[in-house]
Amino acid sequence: MNSFVSAAAIGAKHESLETVVRLTDVYRRFGATPALDGISLSIAKGEIFGIIGRSGAGKSTLIRCLNGLERADRGEIDIEGRNITGLGERDLQPLRQRIGMIFQHFNLLSAKTVEENIALPLKIEGVAKAERLKRARELLDLVGLSDKARAYPASLSGGQKQRVGIARALAARPALLLSDEATSALDPETTRSILSLLKDINRKLGLTIVLITHEMEVIRTIADRVAVIDAGKIVEEGQVWSVFANPQTAITKSLLCGIRPQLPDHIAARLSQTGGREAIISVDLAGSEAQGALFADLAAELPQAFRLVHGGIDHIQSQPVARFFIAVPTRNLKLAGQVQQFLTARSARVEVLGYDTDHA
Ligand SMILES: Nc1ncnc2c1ncn2[C@@H]1O[C@H](COP(=O)(O)OP(=O)(O)O)[C@@H](O)[C@H]1O
Ligand SMILES: [Mg+2]
Repeated sequence: MNSFVSAAAIGAKHESLETVVRLTDVYRRFGATPALDGISLSIAKGEIFGIIGRSGAGKSTLIRCLNGLERADRGEIDIEGRNITGLGERDLQPLRQRIGMIFQHFNLLSAKTVEENIALPLKIEGVAKAERLKRARELLDLVGLSDKARAYPASLSGGQKQRVGIARALAARPALLLSDEATSALDPETTRSILSLLKDINRKLGLTIVLITHEMEVIRTIADRVAVIDAGKIVEEGQVWSVFANPQTAITKSLLCGIRPQLPDHIAARLSQTGGREAIISVDLAGSEAQGALFADLAAELPQAFRLVHGGIDHIQSQPVARFFIAVPTRNLKLAGQVQQFLTARSARVEVLGYDTDHA
C-alpha cells in the first residue's frame, strides 16, 4: 500500500513538471456556435501534439486560446503550470514571449528584410540591435537560409517564407511553438521539407510543438500524439500509430481515408450484404503481429482458404500498422469460420464487409 502511494505521488510530481499545456473543460461560443465545447487535454514537454479536424471544427479557436488571442468563456488553460484564463493584456505579454506561432500564410512584413522580420519579436522585447541581428543569423542558419538575410519576402518561395516564419517564431526562445495549418499553402514536397525541419527543431531544442491541420498526412509524418476534434469536441485521442491502427469514430476514419488502404471502388460497388461466392473481409492489425508472417501462417494452416485482395503494411512511429482485404470462399462455411478464428487469435480485427457476387 505504502509503495503504491509513493509511486503515485512521484508520478504526479513528474507530470506537473513536464506538462507544458493543460486545458480543463474549455468552452468558447460565438453566438449559437460552440467553437469549443468542453475541451480537456494535456501536452508534455518535448511532444509534437497534432490536432486534426475538418474546416470549422474549432482548431484555430483552440490554438488562439493557447496564446491568449482568444478568451475561453469557461474552463482553465494552464501554460507551463500557470493558469492564463484570467490574465489581462499586460500579464499575457510575457506569456506570449514563451510561445511562438507560425501561420498558413506566413504573415511576414513585406517592407522588411528577412533578418528584420526574424529579429522583430526581439525588437519588441527591447533587445539591442547587434544582439538581435546575431540571433537572426543563428536562426537563419538553423532554418537553412543563411544567404537570404538581406532578401525581401517577395523574392522568396513559399517554403522559404515559412522557414523565415519558423525562425521568427523561435527568436525569443519560446517553450512552445504553435502551428496553424503551416503547410496547408505548400506543395507536397515543400510540405515534407518544412515538416522535417520542424521535427529537427523539436529534437535539437526539445521544443514542444502543437500543430493543427486538416491533413492526416501531416499528423502521420510528424506528430507523436493526435487529438481529433469535431464540432468543438475531442472525439478521439492517442498515440498516432494507435489511432491509425484502430480509429474509433467515423470522422477519424474519413480523415484517414486518403492514406490507409481502402477497398477498391469497383469491388466495393459489387458487394452484397445477403450473400455471394466470397466474403470480403478487412483485417487490421498493429505491432509485432503486423510484421508479415500472418498470412503465410494462415495459408500453411488452412490451404486455399483465402486470397489477398488489397492492402499493405505501413510504418508509423516505427510501428508496423497493417490493413488488408481478403476474400474467403463461402462454399465451405466451416473453413470461413476457421479463417476468422485464426486471425482473431492473432490479435487481428476482422470485419466482414459484404459478399462479392461477381468474382469467378
Ligand atoms: N471570431 C469569430 N466570430 C464568429 N464565429 C467564429 C469566430 N471564430 C470562429 N468562429 C466559428 O467557430 C467555429 C470554429 O472555427 P475555427 O476555430 O476557425 O475552426 P477551424 O480552424 O477548425 O476551421 C466555426 O463555426 C467558425 O465559423
Ligand atoms: Mg482554422
